[in-house]
Amino acid sequence: MTARIDPAGTLVGRYEGTGSRALLIGSHIDSVRDAGRYDGPLGVMLGIECASALHRVGRRLPFAIEVAAFGDEEGSRFPAAMLCSRAMAGTIEARALEVAGLDEALAGWGLNRASFLSARRDPADLIGYLEAHIEQGPVLEADGLALGVVTAIAAQKRYAVTLTGIAGHAGTNSMALRKDALTAAAEAVLAVERIGRSGPPDLVATVGRMEVLPGAPNVVPGDVRFSIDVRAGTIAVRDPAAEAIYAAITEITKARGIGCDIRQLYDLPPAPCDRGMMDRLEKAMISIGQPARRLVSGAGHDAMIFAGITPMAMLFLRCRDGISHNPAESVTAEDAELAFQAMLAFIETLAEDFDG
Ligand code: GLV
Ligand code: MN
Ligand code: MN
Repeated sequence: MTARIDPAGTLVGRYEGTGSRALLIGSHIDSVRDAGRYDGPLGVMLGIECASALHRVGRRLPFAIEVAAFGDEEGSRFPAAMLCSRAMAGTIEARALEVAGLDEALAGWGLNRASFLSARRDPADLIGYLEAHIEQGPVLEADGLALGVVTAIAAQKRYAVTLTGIAGHAGTNSMALRKDALTAAAEAVLAVERIGRSGPPDLVATVGRMEVLPGAPNVVPGDVRFSIDVRAGTIAVRDPAAEAIYAAITEITKARGIGCDIRQLYDLPPAPCDRGMMDRLEKAMISIGQPARRLVSGAGHDAMIFAGITPMAMLFLRCRDGISHNPAESVTAEDAELAFQAMLAFIETLAEDFDG
């Protein structure tokens, strides 16, 4: 492959074919704090293995294979997420790049915000997008299956909340008079959980990060910042829950005389996978002796950004105990080999049916 870093910082390797259009195989190489080693990088490595296998036998396809290693999928570093895949898909606006720390990070790689959006690829140059990823859930393992075909990726919304009370001496501020931002936040977190639990099983709502300021044992907390992540298979389930959370936090803080600012960081619609690509992936799996179990992804993936841009498919690999976003994440070499074989078979069926 010839490798380059695109204007959004995505590392892209291209294995040329006889035609100029490309099958994009992608995933991410950023991670969450205290992550496992497979969430993201495994999908990139499987893409590289596919190109490598074709290269070893001198096989050129009627299309190129491009392997993309995206950054910022998780939204761990900046108050944003999927910046790199959104840039490549052309689904991001300049305003979304006004996030703390991004300029400095880009400058470290000789990149800048002004050219970030030029990472956009013309969909006419792509024949599709394929992503392999660990399931991050227990379904395949429970069914005794190594691989699964993703049918759709759940809709996500993420918020940044700031509650503002009055910092003060923990010994002298009587309980009745204090304006404690953390006790208000505690009620807010429980409201998020209650609303998340009150919907269908695909509805999930999480507070995963919280910062308490000034953060001293003898000071009543003056400011609390926390994240909210709300997801569901459909907007019809997700959005009323998000609105109920907003209303509950507004009410809690009002009753306590605490200031409240809730900012939406992003809104990703649900992403259906392409029917033709799913069928093709299923055929590829069956051709290597793997039953094709179909399942929905509750986790977000770069693939969701490409839905509606180019035909998109996702292959899931079983992971141990469904554990992910945790250093105990585990995938077997045997399952990774099966995923690789399925991807190669998928690529071959694309080549067979390719008509330009
Ligand atoms: C990515 O792992 C996400 O689903 O948040
Ligand atoms: Mn992840
Ligand atoms: Mn991931």
